[in-house]
Amino acid sequence: MAIIIDGQRRVFTLQTKHTTYQMKADAKDVLLHTYYGEKTDSSDKSLLIFRADRGFSGNPYEVGKQDRTYSLDSLPQEYSSFGMGDYRITSLRVQNKDGSQAAELRYAGYRVEEGKYGIPGLPAVHAEHGEAETLVIRLADAYSGLEAELYYGILEEMDVITRAVKIINQGTGGVVLQKAASMNLDWEDGDFQWISFYGRHSMEMNFQRENIHHGIQAVGSVRGISSHQYNPFVILCEKGADETMGSCYGFSFVYSGEFLIEAEKDQLDRTRLVCGIHPDNFSWTLQSGDSLWLPEVIMTHSRDGMGNISRNFHRVIRENVCRGEWKKRRRPILVNNWEATYFNFTGEKLVDIAKQAKELGIELFAMDDGWFGNRNEDSSGLGDWFPNEKKLGCTLQELAERITKEGIQFGIWVEPEGISEDSDLYRKHPDWAVGIPGRKPCLSRCQWILDFSRKDVQDYIIGQISELLSGIPVSYVKWDCNRAICDKFSGMLDGGRQGEFSHRYVLGLYRVLEELTGKFPEILFESCSGGGGRLDVGMLYYMPQIWISDTTDAIERLSIQYGASFGYPVSAMGTHVSMVPNHQTGRVTSLSTRGCVAMAGTFGYELDISKLSQEEKDEIKEQIGRFKKYYNLIQNGDYYRLSSPLEGACTVWEIADPSGGEALVSAVYHHVQANPAPVRVKVQGLKDGADYQLVLDKGLKEKCPALPYGFGKGEVISGAALRQVGFVVPGAVDGFQAWQIYIKECEA
Ligand code: GLA
Repeated sequence: MAIIIDGQRRVFTLQTKHTTYQMKADAKDVLLHTYYGEKTDSSDKSLLIFRADRGFSGNPYEVGKQDRTYSLDSLPQEYSSFGMGDYRITSLRVQNKDGSQAAELRYAGYRVEEGKYGIPGLPAVHAEHGEAETLVIRLADAYSGLEAELYYGILEEMDVITRAVKIINQGTGGVVLQKAASMNLDWEDGDFQWISFYGRHSMEMNFQRENIHHGIQAVGSVRGISSHQYNPFVILCEKGADETMGSCYGFSFVYSGEFLIEAEKDQLDRTRLVCGIHPDNFSWTLQSGDSLWLPEVIMTHSRDGMGNISRNFHRVIRENVCRGEWKKRRRPILVNNWEATYFNFTGEKLVDIAKQAKELGIELFAMDDGWFGNRNEDSSGLGDWFPNEKKLGCTLQELAERITKEGIQFGIWVEPEGISEDSDLYRKHPDWAVGIPGRKPCLSRCQWILDFSRKDVQDYIIGQISELLSGIPVSYVKWDCNRAICDKFSGMLDGGRQGEFSHRYVLGLYRVLEELTGKFPEILFESCSGGGGRLDVGMLYYMPQIWISDTTDAIERLSIQYGASFGYPVSAMGTHVSMVPNHQTGRVTSLSTRGCVAMAGTFGYELDISKLSQEEKDEIKEQIGRFKKYYNLIQNGDYYRLSSPLEGACTVWEIADPSGGEALVSAVYHHVQANPAPVRVKVQGLKDGADYQLVLDKGLKEKCPALPYGFGKGEVISGAALRQVGFVVPGAVDGFQAWQIYIKECEA
């Protein structure tokens, strides 16, 4: 049983394989958070709560005179609210019909549901029969009639607890939600650091680790999309924690729009974390009887470092977030023509790339931007989802058929949320573009965004894209969104409800994606937003992979992929080998290094094959063979970060089969040094008692003049030695050298 309820003490304990979570409704009906961490028993953990008379931290009226130690400002809350004595960052701020901003939520009951709850219209973790249980705790404000149902999904084996909230107005008047977070977590003690991921277009997911200090620290987005700037994923860890040691907590917001994750260290050195929709662009009116679901948060804890946090997220995303055929099916190795041609191509050119790609073993050709409407540059055509036959030299169907006849699948790029001023769609429906009446809407990449909060727009796009995809033999869709949203306003919302726009936009997007991915289950969808502008678990519910950055430079990709690996599995990361000098940085790296880095993702190519030498073509053939050979291990194995691209000279990561029978270690010298120091790594995930051999693929081995011990013929090392002592990575022969080391258990 994952849910243990002590009815008499009103203590609710959630147990997963290695963690325990607990809350308790106290004598005043306040729902206290009592514990989250390493697995322990289900006894009442309110013994961690220390009370004293805290001046200027007030007391609820009913206890005021007798007990000045009882204060909402100093008690750990399960779901905090604003205005009635808790002065810390809050989960819920409302405006009542009398204009007051207070809410006072008190325990009002619970229920247990079989399986994992779902959320209508929003992405959420799903579970097989018997894999999860749901606890729902009901809180109510006796004054206003507002209720909050706190949902907990417990995936015991995964060490995952999910949280979501449904707010219901059971009162007689309207209530406006001004801030409605999806979770609150209070720690009574602990000296934490938090790890967050910041960035920008083409340089996403930079790792940042800071002390949680007194005051508030936050990451968030008010950009309409989850954004390149901050990712909706954070880790809280104790100070000395590293990849394999120390207590760590991970939180991922299952949402693709505006978010805020805040942490506050308070007057008593305790920490609170609040995660939810960003309140700056949010207000939501609930009339009597109305309700609103708030998006889900996935939480996990490990006492053994961040590596486990990542692997827990990888597993739950692969198994319990991604859906449909492509969850398990091998994804095709693709070539995309964006960096090969940009907007400058003809149908002939595309067929030529596809044909040559096929010869190298590439399985899918993805036609990127520029095939539709009047789209020869980025300032026109968005919205006109009909082919530019003049440019293609034939119909889209003919082109797709010519390509598929070559024995290679066909894929297509779309940006259905975009609209250009210079488009037939805008000329016909100017009011469909997001913008504030009377103001000139801000341009970004010379384009606007379609108002996906409107049902008529959603229906139109579902119709247009369905028609497009039904008419051609298509196996893959790249769904892009190339700008952030501002000038927020919808013609369909009345003045008092404009604060609902951002969330309604995301709900609209999810509806469109649910319809289209449901209608075309055999098509592999890849999400993109100028690279990683919408790298979040919400999108992964609809599309199993995301193009995580427009930077294809192998060395820059090391730190982008390193950052992304904390919260996202290899199977979710779009990664391509591109041309050198690299188009974003001008850097030259070997094809071997580019291949090695791209193999830490879904793997594909983005270059003009006709410009490659025979030697390069041969190497690509070999890479494809190698990737296919290791596919299962790479996509479904356990991921370990063995060294960081932010330190030293060499980035090393490992993917081990969960059985411990094999592993692939990839090492890339990111810092080219004369006379470099040795790089030693300790391997994880193997069996102590088994013997292993380190194998360098043919070709790679011949490159290295002096191979360290372990790489010779027949040299055998025990799993225990590989874990405790490790091995030394072969030295760099070329600049930015990459090595792939396959570790295979010896047959008994
Ligand atoms: C975005 C994507 C690129 C490419 C272009 C096309 O920037 O991230 O991969 O598809 O759009 O305009």
